[in-house]
Formats: sequence, C-alpha cells, structure tokens
Amino acid sequence: MSPMASEALVLGIETSCDETGIGIVRGSTLLADAVASSVAEHARYGGVVPEVASRAHLQAMVPTVHRACEQAGVQLSDVDAIAVTAGPGLAGALLVGVAAAKAYALALDKPLYGVNHLSAHVSVDLLENGPLEEACVALLVSGGHSSILRVPRVGGLELTELGATLDDAAGEAFDKVARLLGLGFPGGPLIDRAARDGDPASIAFPRGLSGASDPAFAFSFSGLKTAVARWVEARQRAGEPVPVNDVAASFQEAVVDVLTIKAVRAAREQGVDHLLLGGGVAANSRLRELAAERCAREGIRLRVPRPGLCTDNGAMVAALGAQLVQHGAPPSALDIPADSSMPIADVLM
Ligand code: KG4
Ligand code: ZN
Repeated sequence: MSPMASEALVLGIETSCDETGIGIVRGSTLLADAVASSVAEHARYGGVVPEVASRAHLQAMVPTVHRACEQAGVQLSDVDAIAVTAGPGLAGALLVGVAAAKAYALALDKPLYGVNHLSAHVSVDLLENGPLEEACVALLVSGGHSSILRVPRVGGLELTELGATLDDAAGEAFDKVARLLGLGFPGGPLIDRAARDGDPASIAFPRGLSGASDPAFAFSFSGLKTAVARWVEARQRAGEPVPVNDVAASFQEAVVDVLTIKAVRAAREQGVDHLLLGGGVAANSRLRELAAERCAREGIRLRVPRPGLCTDNGAMVAALGAQLVQHGAPPSALDIPADSSMPIADVLM
C-alpha cells in the first residue's frame, strides 16, 4: 500500500437533510468539521421543509467548503478524494451535495466516493476512538432510521442489519413528542434538556416489542408516541397542568431503555466485545449514560463519538471515504444518482 493510500486526505460532503456538512480527514484524523445548518428556517414549520433545505445547501456549499479548508489548513488541490452522501435522505437535498461533489471531483481530477449516510454515522467513531480491527455491533439511531447492525469492520463495505424499527425512527419519536409537548423543533435536544428536571419513573410508558415472543432486535415507537399523546390529552381534558419535564423524562426513559437492552443483547449474542452508538439520537445524554451502565455490567466496551459528531456532519462522510480509499474500494462513477432510499447494506454506490 502506498503511503498516500494509507493516509489519504479526503473531503466529505453531507447534505441529506438540513445540515450542509463539510469535513476533512487524513486517514482517521479529523482536520476540519464545518457545518452550516438551515434548522432555524424550518423551526416554524415544525419539521424540515425539503425545498428550503435544498436551496440552503446550494447557498452554503462553497463557503462551507472554504471554511473547512481554512480550518484544516489545506488547499482544495491537496485533497486526494471526494466523498459524498449519495443516500438515503431528502432527494433534492442529496442532489445538491452529489452535484457539488461531482464538480469538485471533475475539477480537481480526483476520485469520487458516493457513500451511505448510515454507514457514515457508524464510521465517524474512528475519528474519536481510533480504528477498530474487529467486528462490533452498532446501534444506529437517527431521525429517519433505528437499526441494530453487525459491522465486521468499521468503514468496510459490509454490514448486516440484525433488526430495525417497524414504524417510527427513534429520532422521529423524539421530534413528535416534543411537538405535542409544545417544546419546538428539533425535539431530541429539547426533550433531553427538559428530562433533566423530570422524574423518569413518574409515568410508566410502554416498552414496545419487548415481550418474550417479540422479535429480539426490532423496535416500535409509534405505540409509545400514541401513549404519550393519550396521557397528555387526558390531563388536558381533566383541566390539569401537564408536567412537561416528567413526561419528557418518562418518554425518554422508555425509548433508551428498549434501545440499550436490545443493543447490548445483540452484542452479547453476536459474541463481540464492542458496542458502537451512532446517529443523532446517540447525542442523547440519557442514552449515553444508560448504554455505558449496561455495557459495563456485561463487560462490553462502549464506543460513542462526542455529541457533535453524532448529529449530521461532513466529517463522518470523509471518515468513511478515507477508509474506502485506504482499503482500495473502487471509486464511484461520475454519473451516480442520489438515492433517497439507498438500502442500509449498500455502503458505497
Ligand atoms: O442523524 P441526524 O442528525 O439526522 C438524520 O440522519 O436523521 O438525527 C437527527 C435526529 C432528530 O430526530 C433529532 O431530534 C435527534 O436526532 N436528536 C436527539 C438529540 N439530538 C438530536 N434525540 C435525542 N436526544 C438528543 N440529544
Ligand atoms: Zn443522520
């Protein structure tokens, strides 16, 4: 392997939702992580407006790339490869990133890697916790996905989904419950904050799919969301105040209880020593705490990136791109599409 191939300088572009993320990585070292978010423009609609997000990406792209280069102290011409989120995500938003990545790859005459957003969420761990040369189980929890994965090598081309949500994603449940509690958007961080002043044991919300005959690694959060809505409505009908912090804490506990029990069980059953957390919901303070507690009890090592690297960013895309370069994966063609429903098992387009 040439020295360049093992320490490739990779620019990563992420535009699958409302964050224009540009990351620069050398090997598994993070050099720059520049993010421009259009979240404030969506807040009043209570959710991401795809058209608004796409236009914001188009405006933010070039300045954010320049900011990342400045942060990293590199010139665009130094970059060895361009990696970009090719899917899954919002179609129009993805198109902006993919088109920009193609333009940079063509102009700089460097290879293009169209990668899977979900795999990138897993790969970002390398930047904080170093390479992992053995199989692990990953709990991937974001606004659009909630899955338990077997990952033979972080940053590799293969992974197996052991189970996934049958309905809402964990982050989606956080966002919907936050909305019904009047907390705002995006709901995850707001619930996380409100829950700190609440009692997680005050309301016994249901733990979906945790019966003995339920699928071991599947999730369901829509029943929980409905249970919270019913509970809140009953209080309102009775003319009683809604204890927002207690509802937030009890809801959050129900989500992270099921997520951590199942993820730890998967790690044990798969016979791996490491559990990795990734995706926006992995920024949740209670999820991190409970996962650490339960992993320690089972002798499993927990790997979780700092909260800023769990939510969408370009560094994760660059991290995965650098692994692909390093291991000689074939670059993508310059005519790749953006695939809004790119399957989780397809790491590279
Ligand atoms: O990975 P991500 O940034 O975007 C997607 O790929 O979807 O995840 C966004 C999701 C949102 O639903 C957001 O509410 C949730 O992650 N989230 C959190 C926290 N921070 C972000 N959920 C719970 N607690 C948090 N601290
Ligand atoms: Zn994401």
